[in-house]
Amino acid sequence: MRTPKTKILVTGGTGYIGSHTVVELIASGYEVVIIDNLSNSSETVVDRIGEITGVRPAFHRVEMCEKAEMQAFFDQHPDIRAVIHFAAFLQVNESVKEPLTYYLNNLNSQLNVLQCMKERNIDHFVFSSSCTVYGNPDNLPVDERAPIKKAESAYGNTKQMGEEILEHTVKATRINAISLRYFNPVGAHESALIGEVQHGVPHHLVPYITETAFGKRSQLNVFGSDYRTHDGTCVRDYIHVVDVAKAHVAAIDRLINGKNRSNYEVFNLGTGIGYSVLDMIGAFTKATGISIKYELAPRRVGDVEAVYADTTLANRELGWKAMLNVEDMMRSAWKWEQAVAAKKTEA
Ligand code: WQD
Repeated sequence: MRTPKTKILVTGGTGYIGSHTVVELIASGYEVVIIDNLSNSSETVVDRIGEITGVRPAFHRVEMCEKAEMQAFFDQHPDIRAVIHFAAFLQVNESVKEPLTYYLNNLNSQLNVLQCMKERNIDHFVFSSSCTVYGNPDNLPVDERAPIKKAESAYGNTKQMGEEILEHTVKATRINAISLRYFNPVGAHESALIGEVQHGVPHHLVPYITETAFGKRSQLNVFGSDYRTHDGTCVRDYIHVVDVAKAHVAAIDRLINGKNRSNYEVFNLGTGIGYSVLDMIGAFTKATGISIKYELAPRRVGDVEAVYADTTLANRELGWKAMLNVEDMMRSAWKWEQAVAAKKTEA
């Protein structure tokens, strides 16, 4: 008699990092149920996950801001053991224009799922946080004890507030929580069946590079070349989305197996290596043989000069380390770009 699989709820599981995490959870033997309001993704992602893993996870379209919808969902799944919470609006610049939309959506979604967990004695919660909480760090590499800087966007503030909500909640309930602070997730699953879906002009660097390579954009504008970095352009800790996904499995394993050292823990998810914008352009060309037309342009408001992770804690405590390098990231991003274009011509 096979022991029943441990069931994990993944909110936002049809999104970019969520879908890659669902693939790794299934590969690790977990049963997964996804809820998503499909505001920024499509249910076809569930089919793609089924193609990759051989298991199509259960999916429910749920508006997490509606408490009654959440309660009805949990009533249908009384055997959920843990929650990984991705569901959130995530465009930094959009959040500056629409702060209330971001606070209402991101905070209510998190509060509702935590309340449901409390009512149902579901004890384990992994939260999708971000290196944006560090702002412009005073020291590099930045570790988890670095001071949290005043958020410059509503999006970044919902991550900071999300962490603070957890710090208080774990003290007053049975819930144990882990916040994972992502640096810059990029790339796509090797199958190119899932990846980061763009809506309009890409805001982020890597999709803009791949769209330029594909000819959808005439050139890449490099935002700022007078920063105090090795080549004047901003430095980031780019990390393959599959490595980020695997860290979520390690975090869930840690909580379910009671290996956490306290009821609230925080881990950086990075490679520990900082690459500049020009480094990334070079890495793309090295990985694909395709040159990128770019121009040096003025700085982008709100950009941090340089940030990359001290990954010691996650390496030691999660037993996790990023394994894929920047060329793997670029190769998979390019393969995804080509797959998206091919699907568009099929449609
Ligand atoms: C990277 C660098 C740009 C586009 C994002 C999210 C943030 C967090 C981390 C999750 C910057 C430069 C970009 C372009 C460029 N993720 N750039 N030309 O801003 O570090 O942060 O990932 O929480 O929320 O916003 O990523 O890819 O936008 O920019 O020169 O066309 O590339 O100036 O220096 P960012 P990004």
